[in-house]
Amino acid sequence: MKTYRLAIVPGDGIGHEIIPAALKVLEAAAKKFDFKLDYTFYDWGAGRHLKEGAFMPEDGLDTLKAFDAVFFGAVGLTEVDDTLPAKLYTFKVRTAFQQYVNFRPVKLFKGLESPLRNKTSKEIDFVVIRENNEGEFVQSGAFFRPESPEGLATDTSIFTRKGIERVAHFAFKLAQKRRKKVTNVTKSNTLIHSLKYWDSVISEVGEQYPDVKLEKMYIDNASANFILHPEYFDVILTTNLFGDILSDLGGGIMGSLGLGGSGNINPEKEYPSMFEPIHGSAPDIAGKGIANPVGTIWSGAILLEHLGETAAAGQIVDAIETVFQQGVKTIDLGGTARTEDFAAGVIKALNA
Ligand code: NAI
Ligand code: MG
Repeated sequence: MKTYRLAIVPGDGIGHEIIPAALKVLEAAAKKFDFKLDYTFYDWGAGRHLKEGAFMPEDGLDTLKAFDAVFFGAVGLTEVDDTLPAKLYTFKVRTAFQQYVNFRPVKLFKGLESPLRNKTSKEIDFVVIRENNEGEFVQSGAFFRPESPEGLATDTSIFTRKGIERVAHFAFKLAQKRRKKVTNVTKSNTLIHSLKYWDSVISEVGEQYPDVKLEKMYIDNASANFILHPEYFDVILTTNLFGDILSDLGGGIMGSLGLGGSGNINPEKEYPSMFEPIHGSAPDIAGKGIANPVGTIWSGAILLEHLGETAAAGQIVDAIETVFQQGVKTIDLGGTARTEDFAAGVIKALNA
């Protein structure tokens, strides 16, 4: 029997609720589709930092390298300096393992109403491909005499030809399997060096995919179009910062931030990829058992797809939709289902 080795990092806050719930769904899929999940839990995150002074052990990355994939919740606690979680865990893993594609699907599940009046599941169905290793989030910067009247701070964005090319190839190949349209969401009219370069490298790559239509849209206009004309989009290719913001807006138009799933993907499979919901650790609702597990379950489906279990992945997403069509909703969506109830519903639908 095929066995996949997973490192499980629930992280902090609602991570401890949504990850166990989603794992039960993955276990049910494994049983149905005849494969085995062999996993190890790691207590890494801001909670570990409070107790032991580090988000993960020094050899944490070496530990993860031995796995086929990482299944991750979210990191961050109100008691811990919030500049640390990305730096010491999330970005560290994404960068070390060359997970340069952040794959973030946006779709309106049947059975749910979008906050956008008159938009149905036909109009809301696209993918945000966020460049995940460079751009605005390289954290290369400095403070200069911050307490003084002339204090200043910098963060330099870095865009490399290699970095742009590789994520662009991924986006165009994905579009070939979808509706054959890539929208480059940019801001090259004002970021006249970095994003001008971004645009031109994407255009060069685009020439290698004559069957895919490439369009350019500025981030400000794209934000409005998420609300006004979401049907316009098929594959969005955008930078690390823009993709971060736009995918939460994607969560919003699906109905809740708790619905968005994602994969931090190393397409070459030289390193394990990491799968996590798009949201954070939600300290405001942590410990209550009410977090929406859908984004995490969906991330689990994307994980299985990445490992080659395409049928299992598809059926998990269908099962989520079935539960919504039965009228079951979590509290963030105005319903009454708790984290565990919703996951149990998905398992039932999967086995039906
Ligand atoms: P957040 O995404 O944790 O929460 C924003 C709002 O959405 C909150 O009201 C929360 O209750 C709600 N929400 C999020 N996920 C939900 C779910 N599954 N079900 C129902 N409601 C949900 O973002 P926020 O509040 O800006 O950040 C909280 C912490 O999470 C911070 O420490 C931040 O740094 C961290 N964070 C970590 C991320 C990661 O680990 N990849 C990503 C984003 C934030
Ligand atoms: Mg985010």
